Amino acid sequence: VTSATPSGRTVGVGVLGCGSVGSALVGILNDRAGPIAVQAGARLSVVGIAVRDPGAERAPHVPRDLLTSDAKGLVSDPAVEVVVEVIGGLSPAGELVRIALEAGKPVVTANKALLASPEGVELRTLAGERGVDLLYEASVAGAIPLVRVLRESLTGEHVRRVMGIVNGTTNFILTKMGEQGADYGEVLAEAQALGFAEADPTADVEGFDAAAKAAILAGVAFGYDVADTDVYRQGITAIRAVDVEVAERFGYVIKLLAIVERTDDGSLSVRVHPAMLPREHPLAGVRGAFNAVFIEGEAAGELMLYGQGAGGLPTASAVVGDLIDAVRNRLAGAAAPAPDRQPPRLLPASELLTPYFVSLDVVDRPGVLAAVAAVFGDHSVSIRSMEQEGIGDEARLLFLTHLAREGSVRETLEVLERLDVVERIGAAIRIVGDPG
Ligand SMILES: NC(=O)c1ccc[n+]([C@@H]2O[C@H](COP(=O)([O-])OP(=O)(O)OC[C@H]3O[C@@H](n4cnc5c(N)ncnc54)[C@H](OP(=O)(O)O)[C@@H]3O)[C@@H](O)[C@H]2O)c1
Repeated sequence: VTSATPSGRTVGVGVLGCGSVGSALVGILNDRAGPIAVQAGARLSVVGIAVRDPGAERAPHVPRDLLTSDAKGLVSDPAVEVVVEVIGGLSPAGELVRIALEAGKPVVTANKALLASPEGVELRTLAGERGVDLLYEASVAGAIPLVRVLRESLTGEHVRRVMGIVNGTTNFILTKMGEQGADYGEVLAEAQALGFAEADPTADVEGFDAAAKAAILAGVAFGYDVADTDVYRQGITAIRAVDVEVAERFGYVIKLLAIVERTDDGSLSVRVHPAMLPREHPLAGVRGAFNAVFIEGEAAGELMLYGQGAGGLPTASAVVGDLIDAVRNRLAGAAAPAPDRQPPRLLPASELLTPYFVSLDVVDRPGVLAAVAAVFGDHSVSIRSMEQEGIGDEARLLFLTHLAREGSVRETLEVLERLDVVERIGAAIRIVGDPG
């Protein structure tokens, strides 16, 4: 499709990867060529599409004559002015992005694994130094316009905290556990059968995927370079049906959260862990595979962005938005702001201040409560409320604490675990978002 554009210009695009996202992207560029040209100020022409196997079967809308296995050649082709990287992973994606940036070609990518890696941090710096766009709206929370909202709409805002449900698989699993009272393993099998979880679910359920997104959010919301290796990470595999049920009884919902926040001493805390959110919190209502990001700003107050965090078409939609921006900037001789810099100090997890929910399986014997309470007291972890349930083998003590130092809570749990009267630590889950 050719359409008249204000500049009458055509910009050549090199597409790297033609899987779920790449194939959807090629479809949108074709179907919406006219409106996209008007927005971008130039017609976009796909010069080539790099794939691993050009002979493999493709959707009918993918022009076969554009397929190539020579990704490097495509990036270096003088006809390619803008590069879209939707291969995924570190290699060869990282090298291809570097070649493009060094040649002064803007890059749009959906690759959270690359962006959050130490190599990705270097690439972001390189883009900033060269004044070339490296845009990655699609890398966090798929179709949800998050990067642009934080970078541009909220650029004058003092953001205090950003917390998100940024992994659809784990949110699907936790939602189902709550609905069905079923244990993690059972629900994981169901999620795999329905295509909501991979055969190897490690990246999702152990929080690696969310940690990459938390690292990227630290850059976008706070302007700091953080790699995923610096993110404190805990997944959902230890959460049991009984924890979900007890949390609910106390008025909470368990979610896997990616949290980036400024602490009072000026440090930055970047972390991923299961958290108990009050039932009334807007994030608590985000169910199934949906994503949402909750932003707390000094002047703007509370905002929440909600939508589909994955899927070829939603993700490609975000890629197209970036592509239009990159082309517009290129025609104007500008680049998007890339203010990443070193964080003042990353808060070690042990220094985090947070209230906790702790459940202990105990023997049903007089004096147990006093012994347990003394351990909390010895470590300056102050108890807000306590409940006892069950008798005999089923006896359980449930505690909500006041704000406590993470390190002190861990020490408390270590000592409790060694007490004769404690059979096991059932759960120890941080509480987030309580009013006051
Ligand atoms: N899918 C989603 O919902 C989603 C959401 C958000 C972000 N993302 C991100 O988007 C990116 C792409 O994801 P996807 O789901 O579209 O992946 P995908 O379906 O696995 O597609 C990957 C594509 O890259 C090509 N490729 C692999 N190795 C290559 C190489 N060495 N040289 C050239 N091409 C190569 C593959 O070629 P063949 O087709 O020949 O195998 C395939 O076309 C990833 O970074 C992912 O994290 C995806």
